[in-house]
Amino acid sequence: MEPGPIQLLILAGLLSLGLAVERSYSLIEQNKTWQEAQDYCRIHYNDLATINSAEDTIQLQKEADAHRFSSAAWVGLYTDMDTWRWSYNNMSLGNFRNWKSNQPDNTMGREGCVTMAYDGLWADMVCIGGKPYICFKDTQPERYIFFTNSTSWYMAQSFCRQYYTDLAYAPDDVSNLAIKSIIPGGNIGWIGLSRDSWKWSDQTTPSTIPWMSGQPNNLLKNENCVFIENGKMADNRCTDLFPFFCQSRIKRNRLITRVEVTSNQNLNDPAVNELILDTIEKKLRERGLQENSTVAWRKKPDGTVFNRERTSNDYNNNSNDYNVKC
Ligand SMILES: *[C@@H]1O[C@H](CO)[C@@H](O)[C@H](O)[C@H]1NC(C)=O
Ligand SMILES: *[C@@H]1O[C@H](CO)[C@@H](O)[C@H](O)[C@H]1NC(C)=O
Ligand SMILES: *[C@@H]1O[C@H](CO)[C@@H](O)[C@H](O)[C@H]1NC(C)=O
Ligand SMILES: *[C@@H]1O[C@H](CO)[C@@H](O)[C@H](O)[C@H]1NC(C)=O
Ligand SMILES: *[C@@H]1O[C@H](CO)[C@@H](O)[C@H](O)[C@H]1NC(C)=O
Repeated sequence: MEPGPIQLLILAGLLSLGLAVERSYSLIEQNKTWQEAQDYCRIHYNDLATINSAEDTIQLQKEADAHRFSSAAWVGLYTDMDTWRWSYNNMSLGNFRNWKSNQPDNTMGREGCVTMAYDGLWADMVCIGGKPYICFKDTQPERYIFFTNSTSWYMAQSFCRQYYTDLAYAPDDVSNLAIKSIIPGGNIGWIGLSRDSWKWSDQTTPSTIPWMSGQPNNLLKNENCVFIENGKMADNRCTDLFPFFCQSRIKRNRLITRVEVTSNQNLNDPAVNELILDTIEKKLRERGLQENSTVAWRKKPDGTVFNRERTSNDYNNNSNDYNVKC
């Protein structure tokens, strides 16, 4: 580094290199319940299989083909009926429950949000379905407001959060009665209760699920676990016995490297950050960085990348890190 005639700033930022993510699958040809299969995979591999990309689908099929296997096998997809939480303060559902008989029933495997009817009883329903809704205002005493216009649970939640406190919250009989009293006869409305939808055993969220036609259907009730057969999925009772696919440990190699930049500009301007990143990425690709690897700045909590290190004539010492001159 040659100190120039103008005093330049030397700034340092951290560059994160995300290297190829690898997932490989093993078919275990032993009949087990979903839970037993999950235990087995967690002991001997990484987890039950997550299949979240076209590449994953290809890799899983390769493993099936290698075993000449074309029957049903468990994968990591499941739905947990015990994850009910109140929207208000993200509180878990306590002991007070006021389900209508035979509810929640997760009809067709698609119900994750809850309505209260004019009789005060709860039922699970499809979250994206249009229903009236009940907001509450966290005052003493609480106020409840019934809206007759039909909307999804999510829209109702954002509306209530914007103009009131949240969707109605019924932790006890007293609140439940108060909400019930403002629901007009014959009506129902969303309250703030919902649960997690389908998720993978490794706790990641599915992007799309390749269901077989007519699936999920929760036909026999409690069909909370999923098998794959020839690339398509179906919900099934978790206690049935199937072979299963485990996934091996995901390699998520991350390399963090320090980058020094000499400049007289404000390098924390996002447009400038972007420009420097592009330049570095191009250089790395020229030197053989694989296409499926990523390059990104490590942002500090305040969103900036660079720290001011020193001015160019403070020191004249070489660092081994990546140096860029702008
Ligand atoms: C990443 O790319 C390399 C070379 O193109 C390839 O061998 C490897 O399988 C890829 N990995 C993933 C996870 O796609
Ligand atoms: C698993 O169960 C199926 C159906 O009962 C049976 O046909 C198959 O042979 C069993 N596989 C093993 C490895 O026990
Ligand atoms: C709500 O709580 C659950 C369980 O602790 C947690 O997994 C989830 O991330 C929380 N959600 C929000 C929005 O904080
Ligand atoms: C429902 O109606 C109210 C009152 O007319 C309106 O303010 C509100 O935006 C509507 N809610 C939604 C989610 O569209
Ligand atoms: C070299 O630079 C570092 C800061 O990057 C500083 O801590 C160190 O004291 C310098 N060494 C010399 C010999 O100036």
